[in-house]
Amino acid sequence: MRWLPPSAGWRGRGCARWAEHRIEVIRGFPSATGLLECFGQDGQMTTSHTSAGSAASTAPIVNRVTELLGTRYPIVQAPMGWIARSALASAVSNAGAMGIIETSSGELDVIRAEIAAMGDLTDQPFGVNIAQAFVRDPSIADFVVDQGVRFVTTSAGDPTVYTETLKDAGLTVFHVVPTLAGALKAVAAGVDGLVVEGGEGGGFKNPRDVASMVLLPLVASRVEVPIIAAGGIVDGRSMAAAFALGAEGVQLGTRMVSAVESPVHDNWKRAVVDAAETDTVFLNRHSRPGLRALRTELTERLERADHVGMDVFGRVADLYFGGDMEASIALCGQVAGRIDAVEPVDDIIAGIVAGFHDTIAGLAAYGQA
Ligand SMILES: Cc1cc2nc3c(=O)[nH]c(=O)nc-3n(C[C@H](O)[C@H](O)[C@H](O)COP(=O)(O)O)c2cc1C
Repeated sequence: MRWLPPSAGWRGRGCARWAEHRIEVIRGFPSATGLLECFGQDGQMTTSHTSAGSAASTAPIVNRVTELLGTRYPIVQAPMGWIARSALASAVSNAGAMGIIETSSGELDVIRAEIAAMGDLTDQPFGVNIAQAFVRDPSIADFVVDQGVRFVTTSAGDPTVYTETLKDAGLTVFHVVPTLAGALKAVAAGVDGLVVEGGEGGGFKNPRDVASMVLLPLVASRVEVPIIAAGGIVDGRSMAAAFALGAEGVQLGTRMVSAVESPVHDNWKRAVVDAAETDTVFLNRHSRPGLRALRTELTERLERADHVGMDVFGRVADLYFGGDMEASIALCGQVAGRIDAVEPVDDIIAGIVAGFHDTIAGLAAYGQA
């Protein structure tokens, strides 16, 4: 059963890619019906499914990403130092998406306890991130393998370093890439998939940042492995857009920082809700690491500095958990401008899935003669 592209006008290499994929959207019926029914045998959308779009809107989505991750939805919570821990990650996993535990804090003893806590908080799949620039301990791959997780994302580093070890241990490995060259290198290293991260996203960035609108279809046209899009995803509409650009999954950072279950101080969550789309700054435009963070008095000053060192994270706990927004930098994506409320993870995931189904059903109308 295939999910046909929403318009007969799709052209080029991306079109072949869509056609090859077995992407079923199960509409809550006892047997999988897929969007083929929505479009009819001739690829045209049928009216009954158009109007019924939201009735079964939290139905599972089955594609290569959900098959690899073992989740109901191809939605991943971003790894985030000190934030992506069991309270947030278990809520995400219990909502049918993929919760991720961070290692970028470097606090591996705490991480071990957090992973153990996940066993008590959820019976659903979850994964771990290795942020290579921050965890240089070569035993990190063995550490992750020993924790018994099945899914790992590697980021901020060379994909040839850990992929083989992790794959040999039977893990599914997705590497985070900000460029086409990075994507091709990761594929050559043998990863199962890519997290393609646009420059609008929060966190550590390539100083030569590329927006998802350019990067996703570029990478999708050159690789066969499944892609999870990161950067700017906040709702069903942006998820559907990422799928149109070639992704089969999405990863959310900023939206998850501001979730009810996120452990950060309410001041940070409120700042995200209050932010306009122009309220992030890009630090280290001409050096490394590039950083996208919330605009504050401190980060506005740092934006003009030649180089911002890692010592800026020295008082990170005062910001993250003490709520002093000037104590350090609050990593944040441009999509903060689209976040209007602090919501529970369950509602966030259900809303995204419902919006995704509604958006693709609406777009299907363009396939009609
Ligand atoms: C507070 C914060 C911390 C982050 N820390 C990490 C990290 O430790 N490892 C990593 O791979 N990505 C990290 N990121 C990037 C996210 O994984 C994700 O790709 C990004 O947030 C997606 O863009 P969005 O913020 O528009 O959703 C971080 C992002 C934020 C906002």
